[in-house]
Amino acid sequence: MVNVPTYKVYEPGEIIFNEGDIGDCSFFIEEGQVEIFLDRDDKNHTLAVLGENEIFGEMAIIGKLPRSAGARALTRCSLGIIQKEQLSDRMKEADPVIAMIIRVLIQRLRREVIGPQAEDRRKKQTNEDEKRRLKVIRTTTAEEEKYALGKIKMEALLRNAIPNNEMEMHFQPIIHLRSGRVAGFEALLRWNNPASGLVYPDSFINVCEETNLIIPIGRWVLEASCQGLARIQKRVNLSSVAALPFVSINVSGRQLHDEGFFDCLERARTSAGLKPQQIKLEITEQIFVQGQRALEWAEKAHFLGYTLALDDFGTGYSSFQYLGMFPLDFIKIDKSFIMKMLEEEKSLVIARAIVNLGQNFNIPVIAEGIEDAAHAQNLISMGCDYGQGFYFSKPASIEDTIKNYQQKKKQSAA
Ligand code: CMP
Ligand code: MG
Repeated sequence: MVNVPTYKVYEPGEIIFNEGDIGDCSFFIEEGQVEIFLDRDDKNHTLAVLGENEIFGEMAIIGKLPRSAGARALTRCSLGIIQKEQLSDRMKEADPVIAMIIRVLIQRLRREVIGPQAEDRRKKQTNEDEKRRLKVIRTTTAEEEKYALGKIKMEALLRNAIPNNEMEMHFQPIIHLRSGRVAGFEALLRWNNPASGLVYPDSFINVCEETNLIIPIGRWVLEASCQGLARIQKRVNLSSVAALPFVSINVSGRQLHDEGFFDCLERARTSAGLKPQQIKLEITEQIFVQGQRALEWAEKAHFLGYTLALDDFGTGYSSFQYLGMFPLDFIKIDKSFIMKMLEEEKSLVIARAIVNLGQNFNIPVIAEGIEDAAHAQNLISMGCDYGQGFYFSKPASIEDTIKNYQQKKKQSAA
């Protein structure tokens, strides 16, 4: 890192920067007065006189454009320097939509300050080097803008997805590996977006989480998952399915803030006629950062008779401490390890370590991403309890899941 001064002193009348300069920092006024000015037709136009604790020079940094006006010390000034990165890094981290709005406001203010004709003149005047530099900077901004707009559009579509019946639950069986029986199903959300077809949660759940949409959509998922299991249970009566199959429902960290979560789940469960032990809630290590709230939430789930599964295990940043502290009933090994475990020694070692960990903690393990018989065989010999993956079945709609098992029943009767 370059060593940069944090304060700079300017004498009365001294220019801090001129309109059109390329800026590399912003300032806050520790002491003194600063004039913001424009030179037009050899006349000085004062736009503002700024005093202690005010900031200036932020527009060029955030808008990635030359200085919109000049700045001059009116009195002896001590100015604190805000490095470019201090603002630009924050903009990168900010919600993309908020960042977009700030950029739009700054562009409007610029036009307001220097006028459209002056802006056009400035564009013509900038030398080649500068033009090239602005072009490079501008393309990234356009990309960011596209991304932010995409998010806003998706959010608008998602708001109507439930009223328009575009959401659907697909079920994927979870198999008890040694007996080969279906122990339960993971309920997986699918969005039937009329514009782009079937959309998977990894491309829309983060938008739901950033907005409050995760709450209504999450509640809908609770209902649809309970209803789905009830329908399967009613129509599939098979020795290959456990007497009391479970449904495993993915819960996002944001849903821990939904005060009505458990009431909604209890209503959904009882109206579907399911027992509490048929509900499994899948959480990820991310919720551990919520500390006490997460612990209380988990205890409440247990109190109501549900079980908890730790999803995507091995991919997060959690410490083993949580395994001892948190009332977990299942651990799910992330599919990335299982899918690679036959080609890559490292993945095999990790999968085995997780199975052993589960055994030592007395927590059954579910392996995700089983794609062929060799994966299943290996996991059985390690002592892994449950498995899920394309080898057994792809996720399917409730109707297809029912048909699938009725088919199997016919086949085994023939
Ligand atoms: P920037 O464009 O980086 O450089 C000039 C600065 O002057 C600008 O950021 C703002 O901080 C400030 N500025 C521009 N227009 C006004 C205004 N109308 N009133 C107060 N400050 C302004
Ligand atoms: Mg899951």
